[in-house]
Amino acid sequence: MNVNELNSVANGMLGNGKGILAADESSPTIKKRFDSIDAESTEENRRRYREMLFATAGVADYIGGVILFDETIRQNTTDGVLFPQYLSDRGMIPGIKVDKGAKALAGFPGETVTEGLDGLRERLEEYADLGAKFAKWRAVIHIGDGIPSDYCISANAHALARYAALCQEAGIVPIVEPEVLMDGDHSIERCEEVTVATLDVVFAEQKAHRVALEGIVLKPNMVISGTAAANRAGPQEVAEATLRCLKATVPAEVPGIAFLSGGQTAEEATEHLGLMNQMGELPWELSFSYGRALQAPALDAWRGDEANFAAGQEALFKRARLNSLARLGKYEVAMESAA
Ligand code: 13P
Repeated sequence: MNVNELNSVANGMLGNGKGILAADESSPTIKKRFDSIDAESTEENRRRYREMLFATAGVADYIGGVILFDETIRQNTTDGVLFPQYLSDRGMIPGIKVDKGAKALAGFPGETVTEGLDGLRERLEEYADLGAKFAKWRAVIHIGDGIPSDYCISANAHALARYAALCQEAGIVPIVEPEVLMDGDHSIERCEEVTVATLDVVFAEQKAHRVALEGIVLKPNMVISGTAAANRAGPQEVAEATLRCLKATVPAEVPGIAFLSGGQTAEEATEHLGLMNQMGELPWELSFSYGRALQAPALDAWRGDEANFAAGQEALFKRARLNSLARLGKYEVAMESAA
């Protein structure tokens, strides 16, 4: 596939006011989410929950792409249609999480490196056959006493470049996700410093590996205070710091940036995105690729009970619609109660 085709897939995921639904929780992660609502994490419950999300009427107006986990890309709707086919039929592009998780980085206490490069070429070929048009790889950077180290940042950026190059070779758009975690009591200034340093190395590695930047999507964290920080920065400050950081580091060839929510509440994640999209012209699409910030209200409304199927869909629809408005710069906080 050439760069133009990759670029048009990226635009299909993020153009026209759309964003991405991250529904690619690994089995241990979805179990944690289900535990929080006292639902059992059986294969059938996971399938039914994902079906509830994907079948939400009208959601494709706001969601251009859905990230799936290995189990889900092989599952069917109740009527027997494979999920990737079902999503494509409804106008949502199917994608796949391909990393194998962040593992302890030997010799660097408290830091991780994401695994999954071995055999990736063959796995990408299989996922392309199953209908995946894009992929996701999440690198995790921790802020703490003396960390992140330069070595951890470069090991993760190297893996992200190896992954992205293999995706493009397979005709798959790579979502490049270097997540600087919110965990800790660090200031917003410290988050900005680490995020700038990380993105600089990430793009240097992408270029060194000859990745076509026109055919990737960047999935970064917002620049935000640590969850346990004493005086957490307000929404305006988060929006300004995040845009300053992205303008300093992300080349204009990148077609789209889609934020992760990373533990922000659903409302915070929407408000921050809305403010940034009201701050004038940007070289890239600035959108969302939220997991928890799209799903938490739906999960809570569903609670594993078939009787709450419609309520769960209503909750997802509301978040998808408000995030789409935010992504277009048309969101106001008052819409939360009006919607
Ligand atoms: P959150 O929005 O819940 O951070 O998840 C997004 C994601 O896909 C992380 O890899």
